[in-house]
Amino acid sequence: MKIAPSLLSCDFSVMGEEIRRMDKAGADWMHLDVMDGHFVPNLTFGAPVIKWVRKYSDKPFDVHLMISEPLRYIDDFADAGADIITFHVECDSDIDATIDKIRERGILPGLVIKPNTPASAVFPYLDKLALVLVMTVEPGFGGQSFMADMLPKVKEIKAEAQKRGIDLLIEADGGIGAATIAQAAEAGVDVCVAGTAVFKAEDAAKAIAQLQAY
Ligand code: DX5
Ligand code: ZN
Repeated sequence: MKIAPSLLSCDFSVMGEEIRRMDKAGADWMHLDVMDGHFVPNLTFGAPVIKWVRKYSDKPFDVHLMISEPLRYIDDFADAGADIITFHVECDSDIDATIDKIRERGILPGLVIKPNTPASAVFPYLDKLALVLVMTVEPGFGGQSFMADMLPKVKEIKAEAQKRGIDLLIEADGGIGAATIAQAAEAGVDVCVAGTAVFKAEDAAKAIAQLQAY
């Protein structure tokens, strides 16, 4: 299992150092949660911050946009050094135009679905995507409980991609740790985001290695 520590749980005053620490601890990707206080009821950071912390790791930067109009900001996040950009199928931007814009910039595009959104919502776009992110909590905050009832969606999306011969990664985000990752692995998740489980661990390297074993 690939593990992407969510920087939402880090000390923002030393975010660069926290990224370096996660890099050394063996993280596969860095997961950066961008929130606009409109699409979700919380605010975090935007492209300028990502640009500043980019130099602290060469690992892929997985930028999760929880914003109403992602299309307006794709260039900014591309310039900041994103490798993967995921945005919500529930957003207000044109989905096809946003995926195309991400591809144009040489970045891997992913669509995210909230807990109340069915798996089928991403099916019209599947051929153009590199990954689908299935939320296993309501987006907005770290430290929430894992929703195991989201896992059938992982299986549905996997099955549809296989049927069409599409090479697609499935990522899961929210409430993932030692007690829940086995279920995600069993459902076929390829990449797990983990905030609390990694940042609140005494030994981040040990926590990451333990999760990667699945
Ligand atoms: C929630 C974010 C997640 C969150 C995960 O909106 O998308 O990335 O930080 O944190 P944990 O692992 O603590 O649930
Ligand atoms: Zn996230």
